[in-house]
Amino acid sequence: MAQASGNPDVPDLGRRQFMNLLTFGAATGTAVGALYPVVKFFLPPSSGSTGGGLVAKDELGNDVIASSYLKTHGAGDRSLVQGLKGDPTYLVVTDDGAIDSYAVNAVCTHLGCVVPWNAGANKFMCPCHGSQYDSAGKVVRGPAPLSLPLAQADVGSDDKVVLSPWTDTDFRTGDAPWWA
Ligand code: FES
Repeated sequence: MAQASGNPDVPDLGRRQFMNLLTFGAATGTAVGALYPVVKFFLPPSSGSTGGGLVAKDELGNDVIASSYLKTHGAGDRSLVQGLKGDPTYLVVTDDGAIDSYAVNAVCTHLGCVVPWNAGANKFMCPCHGSQYDSAGKVVRGPAPLSLPLAQADVGSDDKVVLSPWTDTDFRTGDAPWWA
């Protein structure tokens, strides 16, 4: 009888512990993400940081140089670079072939998959659960609850592409940026 009273709870406890572990993992990830800017503040400036911004890096970790980038990325292009906090971020090329002033964080606001750009559909389409975002990263189909975060993109006097936090109104929604 003593055994029977304890047993029904065992699978539940096991599951709960597992869920706690998952939650803890997610919470830890969030905490690390939130702490990063604080940590960054105390680190000596690296060659990659300029003021509040960070030089975008290509897949090899090299600085993105606007003029050479634009030789291989034409109008309307959206390609990934390493952006703020190391997040995969899309640089946008304008119709007249310049680096646009906004870049789009590629991390899906649903559960964090990196969202590929689908040039044919003119959308960002998440392969994980089907969320879709328009060409500026505004959510147009769930389950993603929010649009992709923006970053400010500028070309410095040294021709490097600099990304900095987007603090202005979100031009896609007219709202304050939810990620700021
Ligand atoms: S993670 Fe993108 S739709 Fe779920």
